[in-house]
Amino acid sequence: ARIVVLISGNGSNLQTIIDHAENGQIDGQVVGVISNRSDAYGLERAASASIPTKVLEHSLFANREDYDQSLAGLVDTFEPDVIVLAGFMRILTPQFVRRFEGKMINIHPSLLPKYTGLNTHRRAIEAGDKEHGCSVHFVTEELDGGPVILQAKVPIFEDDDEQSVQQRVLEQEHRIFPLTIQWVATGRAKLINGVAQLDGNPL
Ligand code: GRF
Repeated sequence: ARIVVLISGNGSNLQTIIDHAENGQIDGQVVGVISNRSDAYGLERAASASIPTKVLEHSLFANREDYDQSLAGLVDTFEPDVIVLAGFMRILTPQFVRRFEGKMINIHPSLLPKYTGLNTHRRAIEAGDKEHGCSVHFVTEELDGGPVILQAKVPIFEDDDEQSVQQRVLEQEHRIFPLTIQWVATGRAKLINGVAQLDGNPL
């Protein structure tokens, strides 16, 4: 499968996806990496793996629709089977989502539907939650709201701070993201009539 990864920052999820594709744990290859920020370290990670990179900065566009139109065209140039949002910090327009719905997934650092949006670790700690985690979901028009494919849970300890929880969650992100990408890439996980299915069983 041809995989395109969209990033905005460090790219630790991108790195684990590249590694899993290279070692055969994902039946596919990362054929392109697109960032909305030219300073994203993930671009270095892609370049080190000889993966083509593109930067599309939103400052060059008058509005979100124009940006997403250009982004969609750029994504299409790679002819992807799977589009992966890995720390891509932009809200996508309904038009963009509809164009790729069913083959676009995102990872979010919370146990959805809890804590959509930002600062999820801090919010979980402040709420006194005893557990937290991450979710991989199909991207739909609802922000951080698409059908969940897989989640991982981590405990929150008394002496945790935002940093220690984020680190524990990130470890799980790096475990479930490559797995779900493999499921989508091989057709095991599908989005059918708004419902995520694994091997034909609704999740
Ligand atoms: C991760 O915490 C992910 O859940 C969130 O943004 C972060 C991306 O980290 N969407 P990285 O760029 O993959 O290291």
